[in-house]
Amino acid sequence: MTWAATDLLLGIETSCDETAAAVVERGAVVVSSVVSSQVALHARYGGVVPELAGRAHLERLTGVVSEALESAGVSEPAHELGAVAVTYGPGLMGSLLVGLSGAKGLSMAWEVPLVGVNHLEGHLFAALLERPDLRWPLVVLLVSGGHTILVRVDGPGRYRVLGQTLDDAAGEAYDKVARYLGLGYPGGPALDRAAADGDPNAFDFPRALLSDGYDFSFSGLKTSVVRTVERHPGASSQDVAASFQRAVVDVLVTKARRAVAEVGATGLCLAGGVAANSLLRRAATEACRQDGVAAYLPSPAMCTDNAAMVAAAGWWRLAADGPSPLSLGAVPNLALPQAR
Ligand code: KG4
Ligand code: ZN
Repeated sequence: MTWAATDLLLGIETSCDETAAAVVERGAVVVSSVVSSQVALHARYGGVVPELAGRAHLERLTGVVSEALESAGVSEPAHELGAVAVTYGPGLMGSLLVGLSGAKGLSMAWEVPLVGVNHLEGHLFAALLERPDLRWPLVVLLVSGGHTILVRVDGPGRYRVLGQTLDDAAGEAYDKVARYLGLGYPGGPALDRAAADGDPNAFDFPRALLSDGYDFSFSGLKTSVVRTVERHPGASSQDVAASFQRAVVDVLVTKARRAVAEVGATGLCLAGGVAANSLLRRAATEACRQDGVAAYLPSPAMCTDNAAMVAAAGWWRLAADGPSPLSLGAVPNLALPQAR
């Protein structure tokens, strides 16, 4: 079997609650990208139910893959695709297994190589896809529902984690606070919208570890929101949301900015679902402008989970490491590979 026979890769992503497939050319041009969100399915539970997520991936995956191939004009995948790239971790075990098993089946049927992709590396490649002009070294703030990581990136595959959350991820804090305030589901975007009508100075929430290294902690902030609402039962949820959001973004941007200066990075790049947050985008842009460095902000659709980023990371991994074995397992707690 020869690999990378063509320039087109199919990417598959099922690590959490989005069933996604995409066709990407040379890891750089998105030819098609289909994302089937399970938001409606999980909404009434106020959070992702892993068992339901796995079942929904199973029902949707073949349709999503067919749609991605069709809209890319790929009618003979066995001849037209160079590989199938798939997320093998981190994520929910039952969800990962669906995408991974599906990708293995397609790889065998079409006789094209399989490439396992680290979901976190996928988020890093999302920025690269849209900004091929990125220059190294870069500091990337990867903020999602499961992760909050500040990474020094010296090029594809060359990562050094500077700091990460000691407890809740930033997106998790958004989701929990939104749920507590009854703002709706999914919590992050709902809180973002509610905050637009609130006063960010109404409450002075804690900024944990603000001037202390690059690690983060958000669980105390969440507790502080609960205490504040208990003490001020009449407080407007918009004011609480805006004050919470201001505290989270202050911490994220202060640390990211310090890391950019210390690393001597050309700029700051945002990645992951929380990178779609309106205040974070504004604050990061303003901080970079003041510091005279570049701000790389992927489009909101590229910040949240999608398969184009998986195909882009897969293209690079295939060239760097070759195909993955068909025995590749799902790894729910997979970490970002660190440069030695
Ligand atoms: O990257 P992602 O789609 O999935 C994971 O890999 O976790 O990130 C999802 C997270 C959720 O916690 C969601 O609430 C958050 O990103 N999120 C936001 C916004 N849009 C998505 N958080 C704050 N503001 C937003 N606009
Ligand atoms: Zn993600």
